[in-house]
Amino acid sequence: MREQSSEPTNLLRDPRDRRLPRIPDPCALVVFGVTGDLSRKKLIPAVYDLANRGLLPPGFTLLGFARRDFANDDFADLAREAAAEHSRTPFREEVWDRLSESIQFIQGAFDDDDAFDRLAEALQTSERNSGIGGNAAFYLSIPPAAFPTVLKQMERTGMASNEQSGGWRRVVVEKPFGHDLKSSRELNALVDNVFGADDVFRIDHYLGKETVQNLLALRFANTLFEPIWNANFVDSVQFTMAEDVGIGGRAAFYDSAGAARDVLQNHLLQLLALTAMEEPVSFDASALRTEKLKVLGAVSLPDDLEHNAIRGQYQQGWLAGARVNGYTDEEGVPEDSTTETYAAVRLNVETRRWGGVPFYLRTGKRLPRRVTEIAVSFKKAPHLPFDATDTTELGHNQLVVRVQPDEGVTLRFGSKVPGSLMEVRDVSMDFLYGESFTEGSPEAYERLILDVLLGDQSLFPRNAEVENSWMVIDPLEEFWADRPPEHYRAGEWGPKAADEMLARDGRRWRRP
Ligand code: BG6
Repeated sequence: MREQSSEPTNLLRDPRDRRLPRIPDPCALVVFGVTGDLSRKKLIPAVYDLANRGLLPPGFTLLGFARRDFANDDFADLAREAAAEHSRTPFREEVWDRLSESIQFIQGAFDDDDAFDRLAEALQTSERNSGIGGNAAFYLSIPPAAFPTVLKQMERTGMASNEQSGGWRRVVVEKPFGHDLKSSRELNALVDNVFGADDVFRIDHYLGKETVQNLLALRFANTLFEPIWNANFVDSVQFTMAEDVGIGGRAAFYDSAGAARDVLQNHLLQLLALTAMEEPVSFDASALRTEKLKVLGAVSLPDDLEHNAIRGQYQQGWLAGARVNGYTDEEGVPEDSTTETYAAVRLNVETRRWGGVPFYLRTGKRLPRRVTEIAVSFKKAPHLPFDATDTTELGHNQLVVRVQPDEGVTLRFGSKVPGSLMEVRDVSMDFLYGESFTEGSPEAYERLILDVLLGDQSLFPRNAEVENSWMVIDPLEEFWADRPPEHYRAGEWGPKAADEMLARDGRRWRRP
């Protein structure tokens, strides 16, 4: 008897072969805010890349919705340009031509009933003509303030309902998930009122990065690391997410958020969760999210925030040979803004595995270079019988997971310097994705959009994870509220106070 499969028949594929990427059911992807930055730079190129890799289902339909007064052709041009400029895989006309046949633009404001009726109609037409069977994912690439209006429209038109559509209906919510715990609860209640919990996908694009997922492979596919992955052997862990760019054209959003809400609350705490969590019983969504949730619930701030939570704001400086403005001179930023563009904090993870191990997290704009990494530093060997060696610097083994760029892993350990003396020096052993594998890594959004269409929630944080993360950030924000940020010059690795914070603990930030 043949095995039942929801995948479209493809003679080249054996649907039971789990090594082959799965293809979603025929469906539509509706992008609200389709002319915006995120959509042009990430979403449309990701859809193109999926099409190019043959991972979109037959009948796939892309419906773009935005206020801009565009005819279908204007939108087709914008979408083509976006894909050609930002796609990861080579741009091929024949792939684009085929994809563009299924792209449609719907113009309207979010409070325009008529526009939403047209969208509902377009979905029904695709159902009839392209056989998408009522399946659609709605991507909210819009400011959070517009969420209630759009969600109400979806409810009014019946678009959000699995029952009414006869297929699956899913919603994708971009971060920030609220501004604090209270507003994130309100947002969640709003979304949950219209969509079922299994149909809500909260995007934290760091979870879609190949190297972030490799953390799971590194920890749980090897016997080498896990036995020493605890407070008995680990001295401290550092998480760095540094950017050389400033805030671009996002002053309005950024100035009301700041580095802690923009990056610490989500990307960095998710990295911490994957680094510190216990082994999940499987990698299915429920098991993985349960372990992340447990560890996020165990994260606590130190009592002495004065010395362990530093925020900074960049001032005019030099980067890559060019002079760059200070934050308060950026277009759209108030002159007297006290928003932080840098945040560093020491966190504890109060579990038996991690008790006493400091987790240092830092993120900032206009730092010397773009780099994201996790550095696990191990305790020094208890005895170093090497007379010819300065042992003050020696012996802190370190495992560094480079999330980007130069994706890979580095292990640092002591090695004998050639010669007649027993002199030991730290050396590095490197694994580079680009050298070990011929396949390129999918872009985070490519992976995550595919997972939305497949209905796989593993890489999407659960509501409760988001709330736990706000419980860490809220007291920080409260503490910072009436304290001006420290300053650092653009092109420096953050304010001095952040270096002092580690120096007090007898440590220093890794120079990536
Ligand atoms: C976003 C932040 O979530 O991540 C931005 O809002 C930041 O401020 C961006 O620039 C960085 O993403 P990536 O993938 O380039 O590291």
